[in-house]
Amino acid sequence: MVGRLNHIGIATPDVEAAARTYATLYGATQAHDAFDMPEQGVRVKFIDLSNIQIELIEPLGDESPLTRFLQKNPAGGQHHVCFEVADIVAARDDMRAKGARVLGSGEPRIGAHGVPVIFIHPKDTGGVLVELMQCPKESV
Ligand code: CO
Repeated sequence: MVGRLNHIGIATPDVEAAARTYATLYGATQAHDAFDMPEQGVRVKFIDLSNIQIELIEPLGDESPLTRFLQKNPAGGQHHVCFEVADIVAARDDMRAKGARVLGSGEPRIGAHGVPVIFIHPKDTGGVLVELMQCPKESV
């Protein structure tokens, strides 16, 4: 079983503009600076609501995996949800044993929070892209 919902990923053409919108409409706080993840082809900005963090992501570079998403959804949209797990490799093996598809090679990579993550194919979760993120055991 997975742990807590850690964050919701939202694709946007402009993380700073989206952060301002969430601050104005919903009171989201902006304690974190945006940063680039060139290997993932995304620019990221975390914003915080009272009980959840939102990961705003915009395409970075021509090969960004977000480019196609934004072609279909030019204003942006919900991109993924992220659940915490205690052991990313065990979670990956569990997903595969249950028939879910892990994106890419399946080797965990370091995500925007600096911890190992994997992604589960949206077709295996009713159209929702799911990120699993390894967190210290006490938080899961
Ligand atoms: Co994420």
